[in-house]
Amino acid sequence: MNAIGYPIAVEGSARAPLRAFMRDRGIERFVVLCDVNVLTEARALTNGIRGRLGIEAFALGERRKTLSTLQTVLETLVRVGADRATTIVGVGGGVASDLFGFAAAAYMRGVPYVHVATSLVAMVDAAIGGKNGVDLPAGKNLAGTFRDPIAVFAHVDALQTLPYRHMREGLAEIVKHGIIEGHDLFDALETLAPHPFWRWPWETIVQDALAVKVAVVNDDRMEHGLREVLNLGHTFGHAIERASGYRVSHGAGVSIGLRAAGLLALRTGRFSRDEHLRVLALLALLKLPMATSESPAGVFPAMQSDKKKRGGVLRFVLPRAIGDVEYGVVARDGQVRAVLSRLNAPPGAGEFR
Ligand SMILES: NC(=O)c1ccc[n+]([C@@H]2O[C@H](COP(=O)([O-])OP(=O)(O)OC[C@H]3O[C@@H](n4cnc5c(N)ncnc54)[C@H](O)[C@@H]3O)[C@@H](O)[C@H]2O)c1
Ligand SMILES: [Zn+2]
Repeated sequence: MNAIGYPIAVEGSARAPLRAFMRDRGIERFVVLCDVNVLTEARALTNGIRGRLGIEAFALGERRKTLSTLQTVLETLVRVGADRATTIVGVGGGVASDLFGFAAAAYMRGVPYVHVATSLVAMVDAAIGGKNGVDLPAGKNLAGTFRDPIAVFAHVDALQTLPYRHMREGLAEIVKHGIIEGHDLFDALETLAPHPFWRWPWETIVQDALAVKVAVVNDDRMEHGLREVLNLGHTFGHAIERASGYRVSHGAGVSIGLRAAGLLALRTGRFSRDEHLRVLALLALLKLPMATSESPAGVFPAMQSDKKKRGGVLRFVLPRAIGDVEYGVVARDGQVRAVLSRLNAPPGAGEFR
């Protein structure tokens, strides 16, 4: 696929397409940077490709997505002798793509970057769209750039070793993409949801899910508007994450947020009960959370920090239908609070009251 200005290859193994890409582009020098948890994969993927200056592994995880790790990475690049003509090949999940992508953007004012995605979040979300960065003590993703990689490879076989809880992080985003797309992807998820992961056609799912992000990002490279639909479920989700002191993971927040967006859509005269129930049924089959013990008194104030980003008024992304998502919706505080109260109980008889 090349719709976004650079190739994105989704394959069982990224080995052959990566090799072909490096050869066809005439890349003569590259450094592999990887998450230590996929070091074996990174080695296998790049062994035998000519021009590898080094392969460097880093202990990552969200807590290490920091300026201090960035500095270590940049100093490593100096040590292995990377110059302005050296391509960086990052291997790992979303933390790796954010951190190594940022390092490539900063190193000697920018060297070419290739990402090989090994987590579901990286494949369908983080590695696509050109955003990179690190967290600051004051908040997540506060430092970073917009900069496209020269290629992205989804190494789908790697999902076999990805821990279940990290699979679920990606699934929440895939359901979100399914609601935005509304046809083949959403239908496929409904069909597959009762089956164990090993029976899923992951290449197809990853391909279809990332295509949703590619399509949206393409229409709105610098986030002026349309790209906001990708925030479906995120205004509620981020606030729940924050209010919980990040005990609730991002994927869990998004999943609960998808239910919340459906509820607010219903209260503001959008969406249908049937479609809301379809989304809930899918989340339930995938064992994604739909309720939180966080009180509205904690979550509502946490939502207000989203306001600053949007000129003082909270704007929601809400479904009008599965396959038709609207952004920039303003809702009354009372409606939002009513939705938050509902989230304290799982969906049940009272869902529409
Ligand atoms: N830039 C963007 O547009 C964007 C979009 C979404 C998410 N993100 C970022 O992505 C990050 C979350 O991504 P993530 O969920 O991939 O986290 P992650 O990169 O920390 O990966 C999750 C865990 O799985 C391990 N792992 C990765 N691939 C593996 C594999 N194949 N086998 C075994 N273990 C493996 C990692 O070492 C880590 O422990 C967050 O920092 C988030 O901010 C960025
Ligand atoms: Zn997200």
